[in-house]
Amino acid sequence: MATWMNVLEIDALRDGCHQVVMSPVGAVILFRRGEDFFAMKDMCTHDGGELGSGVCEGDEIVCPRHGARFCVRSGAVLSAPAYEDLEACPVQLREGWVQIDVD
Ligand code: FES
Repeated sequence: MATWMNVLEIDALRDGCHQVVMSPVGAVILFRRGEDFFAMKDMCTHDGGELGSGVCEGDEIVCPRHGARFCVRSGAVLSAPAYEDLEACPVQLREGWVQIDVD
């Protein structure tokens, strides 16, 4: 069963942007694309780098350490030196809040 936790007000994240939030499951990076929100663990699968300070190019985020790229919608790895997908977190919107499942 899911345990949903408010992590950020919906209006606090502008379209096309991303933000790191702290949660019981660790640092999570939230992405907003239009009215859709996506959440991934903020840990690059190459060498554990934090993605929060990375730059987005469209629907891709570039790891600031060595340049691996990931899809912000799915967490899928798109380029070396990473070869594994990011760990996606279930996300939902409720009463003005972005919620993630912290189970
Ligand atoms: S830690 Fe992200 S590409 Fe190396």
